[in-house]
Amino acid sequence: MSLTPSWNFGSVGFGHIALPPNAPNLSSHKSSSDCGASGADEESTAGTEDVGRVSVFDAAKAAAPDPILSMRDQYNADPAERKLNLAVGVYRTAEGKPLVLKCVQEAETKLLAEQEAGRAFKEYLPPDGHSKFCDLSLKLLLGDAIDGMLADGRVAAAQSISGTGGLHLAARMLKLLMPDATVHLPAPTWPIHPDIFEAVGLSVAHYPYYDAETGGLDLDGMLAYLRALPHGSVVLMHACAHNPSGVDPTAVQWAQIAAAVRERWLVPMVDAAYQGLATGDLDEDGAGARALAAVPGVEMITVQSYSKNMGLYAERAGVVALLCADRDVASRVQQQLSRTIRLTHSSPPQHGAAICATILGEPERLQAWKREVKGMAERLLEMRAALAASLAKCECPPPTTSKRGSWAHVTEQRGMFTYTGLTPAQVKALRETHHVYMPNDGRISMAGLTTATCGMLATAIKDVLHAEAKHAFAEPATELPAAKRARSAA
Ligand SMILES: Cc1ncc(COP(=O)(O)O)c(C=O)c1O
Repeated sequence: MSLTPSWNFGSVGFGHIALPPNAPNLSSHKSSSDCGASGADEESTAGTEDVGRVSVFDAAKAAAPDPILSMRDQYNADPAERKLNLAVGVYRTAEGKPLVLKCVQEAETKLLAEQEAGRAFKEYLPPDGHSKFCDLSLKLLLGDAIDGMLADGRVAAAQSISGTGGLHLAARMLKLLMPDATVHLPAPTWPIHPDIFEAVGLSVAHYPYYDAETGGLDLDGMLAYLRALPHGSVVLMHACAHNPSGVDPTAVQWAQIAAAVRERWLVPMVDAAYQGLATGDLDEDGAGARALAAVPGVEMITVQSYSKNMGLYAERAGVVALLCADRDVASRVQQQLSRTIRLTHSSPPQHGAAICATILGEPERLQAWKREVKGMAERLLEMRAALAASLAKCECPPPTTSKRGSWAHVTEQRGMFTYTGLTPAQVKALRETHHVYMPNDGRISMAGLTTATCGMLATAIKDVLHAEAKHAFAEPATELPAAKRARSAA
């Protein structure tokens, strides 16, 4: 009698697993609760083999905790009454509440009415998803330039499971089409970026981006790096509101970056997860991507997410596109993209894409959304100003890492995050002493702040910096090794 896999699981340590009604009779086998400490099935049955293993999945290693999600979990478990979660990059209103955009609610009302009228259904979308949404989305990022590219048939695009799913599809396509590619990422970058590319077997490297000396962009370092890359290298760039640094190139700097792309025939991959939330203007926030797409003959990848700027986090709406040299290449790339999707999630979710297409495709709704995005970006700017004022009011010393000796970066950086410059030890002290949560790199989500909590954060930071300085002062000066040797020899 041969054993099915579920027999093995049922008898060697998965005693709680319910077996299907037609499963072979297990009465002659001991359940896991009957087993000895080893958990092995001691009974020998004709044709069965004691393979002596606990689980066929035993090779699973404990995964390192996600740097951002684990902070959220620690925050939730913290019983303190006064606590502050600045770790997760989600928008909150001035009252600290999650927001469903008005234009989204109105689009949903329209979609429901269409369903009730029998004009909309919940049938599968094709693997590439909602094609109108893809076109409208590309237009939002790349502007009018996309019209010519679409007319030339040189765009391969698909709806993605938001930004993360789009990056994963981009990684899968790169592995398929350029298997030895290294993906060059800014230093620092969103901590999930390297893992997404390495998970499919691609290599990653980091190019200079954030200049800790100035708290701004290391343009010279970045350009020198790009100009030294082999032709055809893949370079990921954040479209705007760089996560975590909040530092974006200016229009002039984007032009210089585009020139380097042209010089080395680089393949830019633009990750647009925050369009609109940097400046409040969706077009201005697309300027970098547009400068890159305008490079003659460039082939590039774009990944868009509507999680943050449309508040569609759980709807997972996004688009991935490969802008190819010509129609023939694009057509084959599109086929491979469809096939990759067919073998992963088969067909993307419809609701979020339908909301996006409704808003992006109707001028009045689009204008209403643009006003709401502007409102969100303005609130982020207000929180920057409020935090800077609170830091000044409580006479908080500048971060120990700041070469400029100031908190000016709080108001200079853009988008959802401020890269505070706090060290991991200071971040830990903030968490343990003041119940303020942020990832170890000191990145804080400005949307997590309200006018009421800016003061709390500022005084907590001041307290931690003072405590650290006091501790360093009280600590006896470390003896120089040479002096120590001389003393012990004496
Ligand atoms: C830079 C960047 N890219 C992509 C994403 C992916 O976002 P999502 O998958 O929620 O759309 C994020 C989310 O935080 C991000 O910060």
